[in-house]
Amino acid sequence: MSNEQSIPVLQVLNEAGRRRTFAVISHPDAGKSTLTEALALHARAITSAGAVHAKGGRRGVTSDWMELERERGISVTSAALQFEHRGHVMNLVDTPGHADFSEDTYRVLAAVDCAIMLVDAAKGLEEQTRKLFAVCRHRGVPVITFINKWDRRGRNALTLLEDIETHLGITPVPVVWPVGDAGNLRGLVEAENTDQMLRYTKVPAGTHAALEEKLTADQAVEQEGEEWANALEELELVLSSGPGYDQEAFEEGKISPVFFGAALTNIGVKLLLDAVVDLAPAPGPRPLAKGGAREVGEDFSGLVFKIQANMDPAHRDRIAFVRVCSGVFERGMNVTRAASGRSLTTKYAHTVFGAERTVVDTAYPGDVVGLINAAALRVGDTLYTGKKAEFPALPAFAPEYFAVARPKDISRSKQFRRGVSQLDEEGVVQVLVSDRRGDQAPVMAAVGPMQFDVVLHRMEHEFSSPITLDHLNYRLARVTDPAGAAEVGKSRLTDAEVLTRRSDDVLLALFADKWHLSAFQRAKPDVLLEPLIATA
Ligand code: G4P
Repeated sequence: MSNEQSIPVLQVLNEAGRRRTFAVISHPDAGKSTLTEALALHARAITSAGAVHAKGGRRGVTSDWMELERERGISVTSAALQFEHRGHVMNLVDTPGHADFSEDTYRVLAAVDCAIMLVDAAKGLEEQTRKLFAVCRHRGVPVITFINKWDRRGRNALTLLEDIETHLGITPVPVVWPVGDAGNLRGLVEAENTDQMLRYTKVPAGTHAALEEKLTADQAVEQEGEEWANALEELELVLSSGPGYDQEAFEEGKISPVFFGAALTNIGVKLLLDAVVDLAPAPGPRPLAKGGAREVGEDFSGLVFKIQANMDPAHRDRIAFVRVCSGVFERGMNVTRAASGRSLTTKYAHTVFGAERTVVDTAYPGDVVGLINAAALRVGDTLYTGKKAEFPALPAFAPEYFAVARPKDISRSKQFRRGVSQLDEEGVVQVLVSDRRGDQAPVMAAVGPMQFDVVLHRMEHEFSSPITLDHLNYRLARVTDPAGAAEVGKSRLTDAEVLTRRSDDVLLALFADKWHLSAFQRAKPDVLLEPLIATA
């Protein structure tokens, strides 16, 4: 044990063993906020009760750190909600709701051990869900599926499962099956306990939790006749044609346990929460950049997966969110930033969800800590005490939108440069530069166009340097090397250029579209052009 750590290793292992750190991935409107609220209500919230982003007229927290967010009614903040369930500590890491903030969402997936894939029963697999699933697969994050809104008319359960299998290439294994079609939800039956039906009845007041009663199989036959028989038949059909539930296959991403329910009326939510406790893996060893792994019981290490400025406009602060990977985090301890070898103190450590903050004194593997005003930190940083640890760089995603940023007022070039580097460090956009374009005309690269709105807003209001953005006609980026960059530069293909990504000095060749890319590849088959992680 290091001299920094006053807590015995056995206790660290115990605490880590009862942590479940997960995120909900979904397409906007599938019900993520509703499910988050329902999960938190089931559990005893440790830091805040049901603090979920404000939308419509529902209760919400003041996470509107930007006017932009208020105007659009979306949540662009991201932090963690911690609550207890059955003696376990659940860390639900929030993901931004809007599709264009997906780059943040992708990084959140580096900080969790499991994801709940939320699917709208009527809409099935939607674009954003597929993209996020692809990232889970890439990162080896196991996925639990929750098919939501079964209280409304929707698709057939067997068809939905078939879609998951065909389009995602993962075998869905039902743990819970619905009794009654979508829109006629009578109840649920558990695959492991078909002697019992959980029946739900709506309460007249509408959006409140439905009443649950347990029926024996005989009662279910008598009272729910055909629906019950159909449910058992379909469940049997799916289970007999598949491999069945297997923990190893789940953790390896080969199968996804499937649940049905309706988050709005709390149907199926407790079963889902139980599954997170019973099936989702506890924090485990984390691979290191140079090989080997950091074991959970070793000295403290943590991964900075998100940096957020101005969550509280009154304070103009900057929070670095750190997922504890090993050891114990104790507030006030000195930690080393692997990238620079410099140490920093962690006097201001909080847990944050929305605008609520609670000082955190101790955190264990799986927990998320917000370090306030830790200016030196960057997204992807590793922090550690004792033996050095450095985790692999977070993947950068393939940007599809490019725009040149220029200060409106050139006398404010200092503010301009400061703002651009801050946004780059936070990962709000990727900042690309070249000698030809110069420092005063960096290219902003984004996965979704809304990232640009954030840039415009923050440059003006936070850094006092309003900018213009001139959109460029590129849609594709490929990683290349200096030789490749020279070839692209020489090419007669005018719709291409190479820029350096500032955060890691990677050379990115930009092309207008796949036709121009393949024309270039045909002409120069030896040039290195590696795809980034595609989100499409
Ligand atoms: P999101 O965070 O994924 O974007 O979705 P959110 O929870 O805001 O839910 C989107 C809409 O779907 C909301 O309705 C919500 O009430 C509804 N919803 C979520 N879960 C269920 C469910 O299990 N059953 C039914 N029937 N509806 C569900 P809205 O009218 O668009 O929003 P609001 O005005 O109620 O806030």
